[in-house]
Amino acid sequence: MNTEKSGHIQKDFISENMMGPNSLIILEELLENADLKPGMRVLDLGCGKGLTSVFLAKEYGVRVFAVDLWISATENLHRFDSCGVSELVTPIHCDAGKMPFADGYFDAIISVDYFGNKKNFFARKINPLLKKGGLFAVSFPGMKTEIHPDPPKEMLPFWPADAIDKWQTIGWWKPEFEKHLDNFGIWEMNCFEKAWSDWLACKNPYAEEDAVMLKADGGRFMNLIALTGNKH
Ligand SMILES: C[S@@+](CC[C@H](N)C(=O)[O-])C[C@H]1O[C@@H](n2cnc3c(N)ncnc32)[C@H](O)[C@@H]1O
Repeated sequence: MNTEKSGHIQKDFISENMMGPNSLIILEELLENADLKPGMRVLDLGCGKGLTSVFLAKEYGVRVFAVDLWISATENLHRFDSCGVSELVTPIHCDAGKMPFADGYFDAIISVDYFGNKKNFFARKINPLLKKGGLFAVSFPGMKTEIHPDPPKEMLPFWPADAIDKWQTIGWWKPEFEKHLDNFGIWEMNCFEKAWSDWLACKNPYAEEDAVMLKADGGRFMNLIALTGNKH
């Protein structure tokens, strides 16, 4: 992986805590033009085991609220303590649809490999939490071309049924967000191969399953989509 920025996080720690394509590689590309300043309040939505939360605290000195559903706040607190960032990062065990924050609380909302395809979810649940001008920056798995309603049959044995529904194209996502954000950008990420190869190199049973899926895909369908903008 590119160690220029994430070099201050131990490689072993990264591979132990990855839950999919390397979130630090993805975050670097996602935040290439971001202007995060120490003390800003940042929501890391669907933070998983908190790799991106640790990075945000160490790299930018921002105050991170690390929200996740599957990973407990206690487990994440131990990790944040072990990295020396627990003064800056608050772990929260919570559903993204039921977050306990005041409207306009965040300077930035960031999310890697969590966002799904629920229509109007951003407008109803996420956008209100951002300050005016606040940064929204997310990356999620997507599709290069439209696969709905007839996904390629040869991929069905490899793609989880609930995931197929969430994997959409840039053209599908654009209208969901564009109307709410200034400086809007959406693109297919350049880091796809690197982020995936770091994940596939992990000794993780899920990564082994994903390796079979990626081989079958052969670069035809799957991509990573990034989307950024500032609240109107
Ligand atoms: C593939 S993992 C990615 C974790 C992390 N962002 C990363 O890239 O390493 C997806 C994460 O989304 C979280 N998630 C799924 N549904 C959620 C929900 N409704 N609210 C909050 N988090 C959710 C899961 O708990 C899981 O940790």
